[in-house]
Amino acid sequence: MCGIVGYIGHKKACPILIEGLKRLEYRGYDSAGIALLEHSRIEVTRAVGRISNLADKLPEKGSTANLGIAHTRWATHGTPCERNAHPHLDQAGRIALVHNGIIENYRTLKTFLERQGITFASDTDTEVLAQLVGHCYRGNLEQAVRDALHDVQGTYGIAVISADEPDRLVAARKGSPLIIGVGDGEYIVASDAAAIVEHTTQVVYLADGEMAVLTRDGLRTTTLDAVPVTKDVQAIEFSLEEIELGGHEHFMAKEIFEQPLSLANTLRGRLDVREGQIVLGGLAEHARTLARAKRIIFTAQGTAWHAGLVGEYLFEDVAKLPAETEYASEFRYRNPLIDDGTVIIAISQSGETADTLAAVREAKLKGALALGVVNVVGSTIARETDAGIYLHCGPEIGVASTKAFSSQVAVLAMMAIQLGRRRFLSQEAAERLIDALARIPDQVGEVLQQSDRIRSVVETLVERENWLFLGRGYNYPIAMEGALKLKEISYIHAEGMPAAEMKHGPIALINQGMPVVFIAPRGQQYDKVLGNIEEVRSRGGRVIAVATRGDNEITHLAEHVFHIPDVPEPLQPLLTVIPLQLMAYHAAVLRNCNVDKPRNLAKSVTVE
Ligand code: G6P
Repeated sequence: MCGIVGYIGHKKACPILIEGLKRLEYRGYDSAGIALLEHSRIEVTRAVGRISNLADKLPEKGSTANLGIAHTRWATHGTPCERNAHPHLDQAGRIALVHNGIIENYRTLKTFLERQGITFASDTDTEVLAQLVGHCYRGNLEQAVRDALHDVQGTYGIAVISADEPDRLVAARKGSPLIIGVGDGEYIVASDAAAIVEHTTQVVYLADGEMAVLTRDGLRTTTLDAVPVTKDVQAIEFSLEEIELGGHEHFMAKEIFEQPLSLANTLRGRLDVREGQIVLGGLAEHARTLARAKRIIFTAQGTAWHAGLVGEYLFEDVAKLPAETEYASEFRYRNPLIDDGTVIIAISQSGETADTLAAVREAKLKGALALGVVNVVGSTIARETDAGIYLHCGPEIGVASTKAFSSQVAVLAMMAIQLGRRRFLSQEAAERLIDALARIPDQVGEVLQQSDRIRSVVETLVERENWLFLGRGYNYPIAMEGALKLKEISYIHAEGMPAAEMKHGPIALINQGMPVVFIAPRGQQYDKVLGNIEEVRSRGGRVIAVATRGDNEITHLAEHVFHIPDVPEPLQPLLTVIPLQLMAYHAAVLRNCNVDKPRNLAKSVTVE
């Protein structure tokens, strides 16, 4: 979604801001802009499309400004065009503001301001905020921002500068993340740590309802009501190198191939193979409540929702605890029935997905214990849940989620085993699963070795515009995830569903040459899947199967088979998803698609 970068210090702000925007590109955007304080004037430059378009429009000799703010915009109010791109100015052109989030009462505020004689230059809710700050300005930017925010309903992360106060940058947040990088006589404020790590690893996380005033001499934080707040400076967990490509052509490829490592990081310190135990420090305080829970609700969006579906199977099968998975966007609005024994588990890579966060708040309001399975440390969901487990899989840059998904499933498997032991899972059964889980990272590495062969197979199918993905049991969510991966980055239409559901409609689509991917490792429902394969073959569909290594039966039925090592059924999703990620990746590359930034998609959806 939208990105914010702001700089105050002694260095040239412009290159730092442009570089920062580039680091935020992965979040998805449609236009960008920058405001620099040049000789007591604010100079704004905006451009539609890539950051490079913006950079090209900046004066060749460069700017000497050492105070500025910049933004990547993803249109919510008003079409993506230069006029609507941030930063926005007040009427006098003396105040500039960038904003993430949505001002819900912008129409009322706009009417009020228009009655005061203010004319608007854009269609955005953000300009209303910039104008409102201008309207409130009486020579003190901090006070003006505070007064303006008092009248605002909605969500925001903002950075504001004034031509009349060249020594300060004001930032505030409510519902949209903001982080302040602390340097030597300089500060970088950003919506995402990726824009900061190049300069400093020391950061202050602004909390909801807080403001910061940054000067070259220091940082002051308060609540929106001016009550001083003391904040700790914390160290960011990842390095710049980690977020660079590391020799791969795309971030998605890098992230697919680093799964042996990212999974090892997720499991590290949490599997006690010798004792046959799972150690999840983050849940220690709530272990008893969890063990006594009557019902688990997983809530998430997108790929994380598919991880939740796997979690549902894991919790019911391994922990013998009733579980269900809900789209957070539905859960939050349907006045869900939550009783004493309900525990909600929010799954989110970014920890900032607006609907997932709202679902957490709804569940907490109704008294449920809310847990988070989140990747981004210090993110809003991580902080608002009662407890949780971090994925520790490192920053995920590619818009299509891959390594976060496998780490989410790994965390849910660990939770299910741990919980299972407190309920009905025998020590022997737990040990078998823990042993098998410990071997998963290496086995993912083995599956990845089939990448070239997967590419050659995809090459023969890539012109087909409709695909089906089918699986049963633990592999039904993987069929859904395989279809989502393919459609989001290669723009091929794909559907994923339980294999049996095919007969209730989708089978009508199957014609000569239609690719149908079966996720069919050996397991309880294997024979039934073979039956479904026959049904597809007899209608001319081209069958591609993901199957257990050594399964010769399926090689007679499927045109192409990709193999996974034999593992206990509850852990199969960690391996069966890998060939599907590779299929989607190769299809997108072969179709010349923008793999890391697919059209119309954003990495982090911070508006509902
Ligand atoms: C967006 C991303 C998906 C992601 C979903 C949920 O749609 O493109 O990859 O699965 O949001 O995001 P989260 O950060 O909550 O996991």
